[in-house]
Amino acid sequence: MKKQTILTGIRPTGHLHLGHYFGAGKNWIKLQDKFDTYIEIADVQALTDNFNNPDKVRKSVKELVIDLLSIGIDPNKATIFIQSTIPEIAELTVFYSNLVTIARLERNPTVKNEIKQKKELFGQSGESITYGFLGYPVSQAADITAFKGNLVPVGEDQLPLIEQCREIVHKFNSIYGNTLITPEPYLSEIPRIKGLDGNEKMGKSLGNAIFLADEPDVVRKKIMSAVTDPNKIKVDDKANPDVCMVYYYHKLIGNPNLKTVCEECKAGKRGCVACKKELVNKMLEFLKPIAEKRKYYENNLQIVENILKEGNNKAKKVAQETIKEVKTSMKINYFD
Ligand code: TRP
Ligand code: SF4
Repeated sequence: MKKQTILTGIRPTGHLHLGHYFGAGKNWIKLQDKFDTYIEIADVQALTDNFNNPDKVRKSVKELVIDLLSIGIDPNKATIFIQSTIPEIAELTVFYSNLVTIARLERNPTVKNEIKQKKELFGQSGESITYGFLGYPVSQAADITAFKGNLVPVGEDQLPLIEQCREIVHKFNSIYGNTLITPEPYLSEIPRIKGLDGNEKMGKSLGNAIFLADEPDVVRKKIMSAVTDPNKIKVDDKANPDVCMVYYYHKLIGNPNLKTVCEECKAGKRGCVACKKELVNKMLEFLKPIAEKRKYYENNLQIVENILKEGNNKAKKVAQETIKEVKTSMKINYFD
């Protein structure tokens, strides 16, 4: 039996952090064994938000690929490729754009939320909302369908985009005949990782993240200023680990000493500074193999480049097959 295909994408706008790793990457590493896996570096989508900052996107592409390889994405199992090298995705986007109304895009909860955030950031000036931005769900539907994705591993915030893709697929298939595969979302076990500051979400722009590429000194500084139980003032005060981010990270990275941390914290037998120091050590242990792999790839950039070239070629073959089928269904295959 043919393996099912999973397709997921990630915007190259900076290094991966623990939120990406536990919320997504760790899941992909498992999935690559079972599925025909495609991971798209969504540079075209990143440019919808960063069209005036091409240097950032360009620099992030390689960083991101190295991050992915360092956490254990295996290029022999997963196809890593760059969106802009597959113009078929852009072609599909144009065809699909007839199947979506502007009102429907404006109603998409993910888009709506992002527009709201932009307005808060830039004021009410409508000029921050571009045609490309509003239409990125259409482009994402092209990403997914170009590679015949059955399953799309995403976070909860992306569910409306998968729903939008499914609607486009249904509309396409009902007008032009059964051509495209309808994808299903595939939620990871821990969809959202909290930040060091206790924020519900770890985010690049929120300043509350530990990046996989952080140097040990940076990790130390960040952990030493993480939010703990605010009611604990003195070293021997009893505290509640459930409201403490330090405890949350002990748990997240699987500290085998977790039970002791919890009991000592509750009994007032553990000071926060010592507790943080223990977390620093455990976190550095956790990050060490990732850092070692990163060093290897950074010293062998040619290998990274070859992985990408091979990935692009493999992805392109599938996308070409899809575009051929799509053009036939749409009756624009003039010279076949
Ligand atoms: N929109 C996704 C994000 O911001 C990235 C993405 C691009 C994606 N293309 C995709 C996710 C296709 C799943 C499938 O995280
Ligand atoms: Fe958090 Fe540890 Fe302090 Fe308890 S002792 S509040 S778990 S840092």
